[in-house]
Amino acid sequence: MNFKEQIQAGIPKALPIKKPYPSASNRAPKRKDILSIQEKQLAIRNALRYFPEDWHEILAPEFAAELKEFGRIYMHRFKPDYKMYARAVSEYPAKSNQAAAIMLMISNNLDPEVAQHPEELITYGGNGGVFQNWAQYLITMQYLSIMTEEQTLHLYSGHPMGLFPSSKNAPRVVVTNGMMVPNYSKPDDWEKFNALGVTQYGQMTAGSFMYIGPQGIVHGTTITVMNAFRKILPKGETPAGKIFLTAGLGGMSGAQPKAGNIAGCITICAEVNPHAAKKRHEQAWVDELIDSMDELVRRVKKAQLDNEVVSIAYIGNIVAIWERFDEEGIFIHLGSDQTSLHIPWTGGYYPVGISYEESNRLIAEAPDLFKIKVQQSLCRHAASINNHSAKGTYFFDYGNAFLLEASRAGADVMAKNNVDFKYPSYVQDILGPMCFDYGFGPFRWVCASGKPEDLDKTDQIAMEVLQQIMAQSPEEIQLQMQDNITWIKNAKKHNMVVGSQARILYADAEGRSKIAVAFNQAIASGELGPIILGRDHHDVSGTDSPYRETSNIYDGSKFTADMAIHNVIGDSFRGATWVSIHNGGGVGWGEVVNGGFGMVLDGSPQAEARLKNMLFYDVNNGIARRSWARNKEAVFAIKREMERSPNLKVTLPNMVEDRILKNLF
Ligand SMILES: NC(=O)c1ccc[n+]([C@@H]2O[C@H](COP(=O)([O-])OP(=O)(O)OC[C@H]3O[C@@H](n4cnc5c(N)ncnc54)[C@H](O)[C@@H]3O)[C@@H](O)[C@H]2O)c1
Repeated sequence: MNFKEQIQAGIPKALPIKKPYPSASNRAPKRKDILSIQEKQLAIRNALRYFPEDWHEILAPEFAAELKEFGRIYMHRFKPDYKMYARAVSEYPAKSNQAAAIMLMISNNLDPEVAQHPEELITYGGNGGVFQNWAQYLITMQYLSIMTEEQTLHLYSGHPMGLFPSSKNAPRVVVTNGMMVPNYSKPDDWEKFNALGVTQYGQMTAGSFMYIGPQGIVHGTTITVMNAFRKILPKGETPAGKIFLTAGLGGMSGAQPKAGNIAGCITICAEVNPHAAKKRHEQAWVDELIDSMDELVRRVKKAQLDNEVVSIAYIGNIVAIWERFDEEGIFIHLGSDQTSLHIPWTGGYYPVGISYEESNRLIAEAPDLFKIKVQQSLCRHAASINNHSAKGTYFFDYGNAFLLEASRAGADVMAKNNVDFKYPSYVQDILGPMCFDYGFGPFRWVCASGKPEDLDKTDQIAMEVLQQIMAQSPEEIQLQMQDNITWIKNAKKHNMVVGSQARILYADAEGRSKIAVAFNQAIASGELGPIILGRDHHDVSGTDSPYRETSNIYDGSKFTADMAIHNVIGDSFRGATWVSIHNGGGVGWGEVVNGGFGMVLDGSPQAEARLKNMLFYDVNNGIARRSWARNKEAVFAIKREMERSPNLKVTLPNMVEDRILKNLF
């Protein structure tokens, strides 16, 4: 059977041959053995419902073995043999071009060049699943191949519940991932219900098919590092020769050295997993690899002396660098951390003083001891950061739950009021006030033709649109506009495409909409193939996450999730091709509700009407909420939008003087 026939077949008619596990693949860590015997039986019963009864005798012991070996049932036997990558949209068998575009995006998220653990259908973040198992993948692709534009596919945490009649204007796919009744949304609940095969952790863009490789994060990381240096350096001084110390060279964290190079500093990034470090080095995302601490110290001193712009990966534990640099008196200008502390006990954070292999053994065989080691390491980690901070280092939390987990471990990271942390998060100090409150966020697009020339054309169009907008922009957003124009001008040069022909560009509501209109016109005139629009969930409106996206909301509402829910509902009836809403993403299960969308542009007038309507709401919903929370940048942005858009009427806050509250209680 050729590729198209295999997609159309769904679950194959004949039982596929069992294949050995590919030795070169980066295997997902073994998950916690959390199910009772009855629950394990239930997990097998759940898995077998995808298959005809006469296969059950063979598959039951095989799935039981997977559950034992991996802690999950991935159904490895059913992984298709064809090459997995984002083919051009025309290569997918489909009755609806929108459905074909979604197939392209799913394929990209499972491409071994892109995905972190491709055999386990995990795209990034250690546990960000596209589907829970290969049966769900096969059935979903089959549904997409037969669906018409009068149907909608509903996916429950990867499970294709079915195609339901809808209408042309409805989304083609509605995705939920990890949504729970709130009282059952603790990390162990997730382990259990995921092992049972009834839910999954979709991260942000894994389970919503919108991941575009580490490029997706480079732009945001560059903005963060660049602005962090702007915050601490005297005006006019460049970051060259100044140190940014951080950790993690994984899915998202792998963007740090590249972003550091673009921002123009010395980036030192620790990574305990030699595979991850070497992969990023081979992909030219980091300049140099060093595995000896003495050599690192020598190299860094030289880079400081020569005012270099360079990125260095240290194969080893981040805590060791913080401590050794303290002894050596090496001054760190900027410090952060991107280990996966949203999953601290299952391989997200490796404790100092224990080898990588030994840690992996403890995770599987002595999880309680491992937890203690992680907590001890976090205390040491924070203590060393405190020493540096006393000397002037600017440390910020990178939304990976570092401060949260360090505080839970008893580390000295709380502010005097015992409520806030000692250090700000990157959203509180940088991205929130400078970007999200004005509506700037990680807009992105994918060229569905798969042609690099199309991507070049879109870069050019986007740059011209931004330049026109900037000429009319108010003072308040000139810096952001200029940074984004510089970014798109140089985007190709940075060689960031891995997988689909995709681009990320921070833009506000006006920018996103005008760029999309220009794309749609270029498609209509035949200059461009179809375009798939989307964005990271890590954005203005899509995500409620009190320690990250909404950490700069100070009216008490940062623990509510109304904004994210309104956003997904609002996008779904304003023209999104697919929408998604997830519990968990980045900071952990139960810690965030986040959503996103995908939208196919085909050059039609209907596409133009949809994009204008949906992108407007998709950004302004969040600005309105941020403005209601009294964020002054958002008040400015929403007032400006109301002047431009007579149909927009947003409730504005009245400010209260401090003296009014002073002697009340
Ligand atoms: N890049 C961003 O803009 C951004 C934004 C928000 C949050 N985050 C968060 O950053 C974290 C990392 O994301 P990811 O996709 O890169 O995850 P990942 O799991 O792919 O990568 C994390 C890496 O850290 C390494 N590591 C763990 N403990 C270490 C230690 N003690 N010393 C050195 N290396 C260690 C791991 O080996 C792993 O390769 C997540 O929690 C994510 O939510 C990133």
